[in-house]
Amino acid sequence: YLTGVNAAASAQPAPSQAPAAHPLTILYGSETGNAEGVARQLGEQALARGLDARVVDLADYKHKELRQEARLVIVTATHGEGEPPDPAADFYEFLHGRKAPKLKECLFAVLGLGDSSYEFFCQTGQDFDRRLEALGAERLSPRLDCDVDYEEPAQAWITQLLDALASRSDTPAPGAEPAALTPQDSPQATRYDRQHPFLAEVLECQGLNGRGSPKETYHLELSLEGAGLDYQPGDILCLLPRNREAEVSALLDALGLDPEERVESHSGGRSLFEALRDDYEITTLTPPVVEAYAARIEAPAIGELLAKERRGELMDYLYGRHLIDLVLEYPGANLDAPALLGMLRKLQPREYSIASSHLANPEEVHLTVAAVRYTSFERERHGVASTYLCDLIEPGDRVPIYLRTNKHFRLPDNPETPLIMVGPGTGVAPFRAFLQQREELGASGPSWLFFGNPHFRTDFLYQTEFQDWLKRGVLSRLDVAFSRDEAEKIYVQQRLRERGGEVYRWLEDGAHFYVCGDAERMAPDVNDALIEIVREHGGHSKEAATDYVKQLQRDKRYQRDVY
Ligand code: 2AM
Repeated sequence: YLTGVNAAASAQPAPSQAPAAHPLTILYGSETGNAEGVARQLGEQALARGLDARVVDLADYKHKELRQEARLVIVTATHGEGEPPDPAADFYEFLHGRKAPKLKECLFAVLGLGDSSYEFFCQTGQDFDRRLEALGAERLSPRLDCDVDYEEPAQAWITQLLDALASRSDTPAPGAEPAALTPQDSPQATRYDRQHPFLAEVLECQGLNGRGSPKETYHLELSLEGAGLDYQPGDILCLLPRNREAEVSALLDALGLDPEERVESHSGGRSLFEALRDDYEITTLTPPVVEAYAARIEAPAIGELLAKERRGELMDYLYGRHLIDLVLEYPGANLDAPALLGMLRKLQPREYSIASSHLANPEEVHLTVAAVRYTSFERERHGVASTYLCDLIEPGDRVPIYLRTNKHFRLPDNPETPLIMVGPGTGVAPFRAFLQQREELGASGPSWLFFGNPHFRTDFLYQTEFQDWLKRGVLSRLDVAFSRDEAEKIYVQQRLRERGGEVYRWLEDGAHFYVCGDAERMAPDVNDALIEIVREHGGHSKEAATDYVKQLQRDKRYQRDVY
């Protein structure tokens, strides 16, 4: 697991003035790559200050090394309901278990990344922080919980941490020769990012559902011509959307602000209207936004909801509400344009699992997008990115994107290795990419897809493609669960259970098991089904079956891309 930073560190040892310096181990638990990016940034800056630093994915970290750590930093995201990200789950359990070592000689620091629109904001970082202290380690600098706009606070935290390290006697004095940085030190050398997206032309946008379907799913094809980008099956496309103009206007009306007022946004000087459309989140209502708003009105009810111990109630209040609902419910805030922009978060990129193989589609990237529409509190709501793509964009238009590698969702290296893929709804997207890739490579390993959606007639996404692959042996087996075709609901996990004996045999034959789609209910249900299958067909106890599944995860044979 030697990373670029670490490789550089060992090739060029820390300067001779500081031979006794303790090496700095920077661990990251990353869901989307942000924590990894911050960890690498810290690694580079530590190296530049002459420290011996290494950056390691928690998924690859040898637990037995922990007892020797003298300088330990953890940068971690939080998943779902306050759980660690999948790649960090094993270490999290080890650290909180009885076998965790005492850490008497260790200095540590924790940086948490999260999203304040979730109830258990930065929970995993908080857990690591508390636990390391309980194990006897000494906190070198205070933990920071970062919200989605993490870049600036994270950099300030890094500087503070490196200063704190430098003030410890055994680290090199400031001004020590920095270790040379090699080119591979630059994190994920992609050419485009959030600040510099590629403008991809939309080639095609096609509805995938039949008439009368309860779902609205689209197949999109974007051109990468001229971008010089490459990607692997399993990778992610990040899209920078815009807010709907009608929603911007409604918010400005409610606040009584002038759309034409000139403002300074993070993307430069422009009208307030443009800033709200292109640069800020105007639909996500988070506790910090409520707090900032409440500070400007007389509304004791809202003030009381912000009390720390009422977090659950506050989250219930926020559910289904946008900023405009708060403004209409509690009017009269003394809010000018700069104050408004100051309380909003930057418009976040939205991520989509890529539905194509680059090998099979040179210069193209495909997506499977479900349009998000619903009504809450008597207002129609539109998913920002999905309806931007599905309603506002036409072939020929260009959309700002960049790509993100996802090393935790990868085809096996060996093309003979069997695949089991579970992808209901839009979760099928990366499996289309997997099969395109295997077809292109002429890979002969067996593959098995479990797909589910409401109705066979209207919602069998990519039906002809999958059936064609089945006919030609690229796909060996296909099991479907159309949940609303019969009186009783049928889900993919039920199909897995029905085929449990064979699923277990495939696993014993070395199959890799993939799950993509809904994180809230589907993925945990499928996980339970998997444990149950191993218990029943492997003749294991519940505990041994759970261990079997954990070992699959450790061996990177059980991978998830869930959202
Ligand atoms: P439903 O909407 O009819 O309940 C893709 O959204 C498919 O996943 C739909 O068929 C949906 O069924 C189904 N689904 C809903 N909840 C699920 C769960 N807990 N596990 C698996 N599939 C689920």
